[in-house]
Amino acid sequence: MVASDASLASAAGVEILKAGGNAVDAAVATGFALAVTYPEAGNLGGGGYMVIRMADGRVAALDYREMAPLAATRDMYIGPDGKVTGESLIGPKASGVPGAVAGMVEAHRKFGALPLARVLAPAIRLASQGFPVDSALARSISNAKYRIENYPGKAVFFPNDAAPPVASRFVQPALAHTIQLIADSGAAAFYRGSIADTIAAQMQRDGGLITKEDLARYRPDWREPLRSTYRGYSLISMPPSSSGGTTITETLNILEAYGPAARFGSAERVHAVASASQRAFIDRNSKLGDPAFVKIPLAQLTSKSYARAIAKTISRDHADPTSRFASGIREGNETTHYSVVDRFGNAVATTTTLNDLYGSGVYVRGAGFFLNDEMDDFTSKPGTPNMFGLIQGEANAIAPGKRMLSAMSPTIVLDPKGQLLLIAGDRGGPRIISATSQVILNIIDHRMSLADAMNAPRIHHQSYPDSVQLETGGFDSAVVARLARMGHFVYEKAGVASAAAIMRVKGGYEGFDDRRTRGGAAVGY
Ligand code: DON
Repeated sequence: MVASDASLASAAGVEILKAGGNAVDAAVATGFALAVTYPEAGNLGGGGYMVIRMADGRVAALDYREMAPLAATRDMYIGPDGKVTGESLIGPKASGVPGAVAGMVEAHRKFGALPLARVLAPAIRLASQGFPVDSALARSISNAKYRIENYPGKAVFFPNDAAPPVASRFVQPALAHTIQLIADSGAAAFYRGSIADTIAAQMQRDGGLITKEDLARYRPDWREPLRSTYRGYSLISMPPSSSGGTTITETLNILEAYGPAARFGSAERVHAVASASQRAFIDRNSKLGDPAFVKIPLAQLTSKSYARAIAKTISRDHADPTSRFASGIREGNETTHYSVVDRFGNAVATTTTLNDLYGSGVYVRGAGFFLNDEMDDFTSKPGTPNMFGLIQGEANAIAPGKRMLSAMSPTIVLDPKGQLLLIAGDRGGPRIISATSQVILNIIDHRMSLADAMNAPRIHHQSYPDSVQLETGGFDSAVVARLARMGHFVYEKAGVASAAAIMRVKGGYEGFDDRRTRGGAAVGY
């Protein structure tokens, strides 16, 4: 079964499973198919993370996050007036060196069973023969006009100055050619061959930073997966350079130490989850960064004793302002996740992104894909919020060759017997951490089905802004009022991330793509 944000990409993964591929083959097939059918977030010009658990017990975590180009500098997004410019978000200076192709090809090399060319065949077919545009894609392209139209993608995405109409066929010959080159010669085609030439030439022409040297130096990293437990269940998650696994682990450890879960939807429960997230995000925003550049107290942050000490600081009846704990920090949606399981029980959780929908807006002419605007995930200026309102510190400052801190949280959960239970993850910036944690909490603490766990209203607290988002209409007005009386600054707003998950149930698996995004589906057989 494959659950992703694009039904055609899920079907591409299942095609590969049926052809004898394993879960990693299917994940790679889905990833390339997402680059074709879900161009807002599926990508070749971005990066991501993959957490793998094979049925024989082997676990692995692949970091294929983008890296800052060699020409990047700490203050590159601070203008002459001392304020941050918009260049980390849109245009040729916003991109980190893409990791997606290297990562997916490396995952396939280590764990795949079918030849790479077979795994990429569905994506090549979808790009060369085209696929019908659905309303979700037409609307998504339309909404991104301002971002796409100033760059070469205009010719492809706005052929007659309008997005492709619903039910028309969307064909991408340049992208088909690019993926064919990768099928023929592997990641080298992208990082050293003609695709690298195309990217570097366009960057040089438009004032971007990525060079052929940057591309040739790029390497994905296998990392030791983060292992943790929650009330007898085990989590396998992503260590830094993503903050996802660390922050989920810290949040869940704090909640476990805080005590038994109060009823879902009660003010007590929202208070506990919000306060635990607030504390975990304070650590995230100040202590995490690329482990190749900063020393991260990972053992401490993920330890039960540290969580017990933090749980003691959470009162039963009132909120604490973030400023009480975050003295070190002064002042003060687009990604896609997919989950895969095969008939053997091998499981893959992958999250990948361009950051914003359609990334930096810059489309590589002739190669057929968008480049990311991931540089905005760095701390452009300590104390100044990025596009997600995150106020981050020195640990995540820009440096050449450094990976920007991510919130992406592909996670695999095992039941107390050690059997595969859940494969989950989200899109949605820092809200990814909240949503992934809460899907897990809903299943373990509130005994919900997968569909209920995903549909249930979510909350989000990222320390700064010092407020709790409650999904609109999800919580009783008396609960909202009570939280306000406890001292929480609460506001209602739709959308705390969007998940794609698979859960083992009696006799098989259930898959679900969050209804918060349109056009996705779980496909199984
Ligand atoms: O890596 C991160 O944390 C962000 N670049 C993710 C961005 C995202 O999820 C936007 N999505 N809806």
